[in-house]
Amino acid sequence: MFPTQKFQSIDTPFYYYDTDLLRTTLNTINTEAARHNGYCVHYAVKANANPKVLAIIAKAGLGADCVSGNEIKAALAAGFPADKIVYAGVAKTDREILLGIDSDIFCFNCESIEELEIIQQLAASRKKVARVAFRINPNVGAHTHANITTGLAENKFGIPMEDMEKVIMLAKNMPNVEFIGLHFHIGSQILEMDDFKALCLRVNELQDRLEAQGITVKNINCGGGLGIDYQDPDANPVPDFATFFQTYADNLKLRPGQRLHFEPGRAVVGQMGSLIARTIYIKKGTHKQFCIVDAGMTDLIRPALYDAYHKVENISHPEATPQVYDVVGPICESSDVFVKNYKMAETHRGDLIALRSAGAYGEIMASQYNCRNLPVGYTTEDLM
Ligand code: LLP
Repeated sequence: MFPTQKFQSIDTPFYYYDTDLLRTTLNTINTEAARHNGYCVHYAVKANANPKVLAIIAKAGLGADCVSGNEIKAALAAGFPADKIVYAGVAKTDREILLGIDSDIFCFNCESIEELEIIQQLAASRKKVARVAFRINPNVGAHTHANITTGLAENKFGIPMEDMEKVIMLAKNMPNVEFIGLHFHIGSQILEMDDFKALCLRVNELQDRLEAQGITVKNINCGGGLGIDYQDPDANPVPDFATFFQTYADNLKLRPGQRLHFEPGRAVVGQMGSLIARTIYIKKGTHKQFCIVDAGMTDLIRPALYDAYHKVENISHPEATPQVYDVVGPICESSDVFVKNYKMAETHRGDLIALRSAGAYGEIMASQYNCRNLPVGYTTEDLM
């Protein structure tokens, strides 16, 4: 499945993006979303902002979910229309807010009263009206790693549910702000549909509360979070968007004409990406065998940061007899380990190694610690 021959002439480590799989995933998203009225999908740019990847996603017609001014710029440059860009973030600066206003983005996902007041001021200075949705913290837990849950009450994200009416009324009295919706996000790498169901039930409850006060909401945005199969990427290359959307259709009571927005990141790009490295040395320890590769936590930080698992494969000799290794990188940190006690086809110096399911939060989270080069991302087309 990997163009291993073509890889031989490229400096490792690098990211390889299987754009056929990306397009298949995007088709699935479009087909499955179209089964439901009013579903709009915005790709969470934070997962992977490689310009070539962004351009393919923009061309498929998705919108963009951005969390910084530079992400807005990257989305616009890649061809996402401004009226499909939503912009979240707890610390939007004046310059970033002005960029959003000047670009006429669809919506600011506003995270505090303090931010709302600044958006009003800045929109007034431009004689414009900025559309805002309020990010409400729904206090819904998600079964995922503690570092990537965002919807619990003690989190820095969003506005507490009890303040919801207050901020909406404030916005309604602001001349340069238009209140257009509510925004939620409960976390990432979520595989239990019951977590999304819990969010739906909370949204229903909040909408009932607002309706009783005569407040209607045009847009509901339920964020991202759909997980991928890191254990077996070949068995499940395309996440189950059908069930994901159906869970919302079954549980969230959309009002007539209301639109439901989603912001998937990982589920769009996770499986299409692999980090390709080379075995530099096989080092025999007293009790262990280390496979030392030329990629490290600077290229893919997820294992070090979240204990995340990425499947590792010897793609030069996939049929060789399995051996047990700790697969480690070259960085001067003990946490620079990809997997421990891991069974992999016997590898030798020079073999190509693939770290799978690395299309999301891989390249974009790379750093230059140890003065390393940033990894380059190549697509299927680049290697033709
Ligand atoms: N919308 C909002 C408001 C978010 O905060 C996030 C992710 C998303 C959408 C996209 O979530 P996704 O569909 O990708 O789960 N670096 C971590 C993940 C951090 C996610 C942060 N927020 C990781 O590598 O697992």
